Amino acid sequence: MERTLAIIKPDAVRNNNIGNIIAMIQAAGFKVLGCKLTRISKEQAGEFYAVHKERPFYGELVNFMSSGPIVPIALEKENAIADYRTLIGATDPAEAAEGTIRKNYATSKGENAVHGSDSVENGRNEIAFFFAESELIANSK
Ligand code: CMP
Repeated sequence: MERTLAIIKPDAVRNNNIGNIIAMIQAAGFKVLGCKLTRISKEQAGEFYAVHKERPFYGELVNFMSSGPIVPIALEKENAIADYRTLIGATDPAEAAEGTIRKNYATSKGENAVHGSDSVENGRNEIAFFFAESELIANSK
C-alpha cells in the first residue's frame, strides 16, 4: 500500500467543490486516512513548496495557497502516487484529460484545484506536514 497527500486548494474550497472532489477521489478507489479543513500562513506555504523556491511562480504560489482554507487529505491505495496524479490530470487544466479533477474544477495553471505528491518519499513528508501519525485512521483492508 502506498500513501499520497492530496490538497484541495483555496480556489476549489471557494467554489464549493470539496464534496465533488472527495467523491471523485473515493470513486477512484482511494481510502481517506485523514482529512481536515485548515489554513496555512505564507511562511508555512513557503516551507511546503520550498522545492519550488527558485521558480518564477513561487511568490504567486505561496500567496495563493495561503489565501484561504484548504483541505489536506491523506490517501492510501496501491500505486497511490501515480494513480492520484492520473486522476488529477495535467498541472495546466487546458492540458488535463477529460474526466480528471483539474479538467472539471481547475481554472488555471496556478489556481488548479488540487495538489498531489510526486513521489513516495515526498508523499510521506507531505502527509507528516499536515498530520500526526496518530491522526491517521488505519484503513488499509
Ligand atoms: P502543485 O501540484 O500543487 O505543485 C506545484 C504547483 O506550482 C503546481 O501544482 C501549480 O499550481 C504551481 N505552478 C506550476 N507551474 C506554474 C506556473 N507556470 N504558474 C503558476 N503556478 C504554477
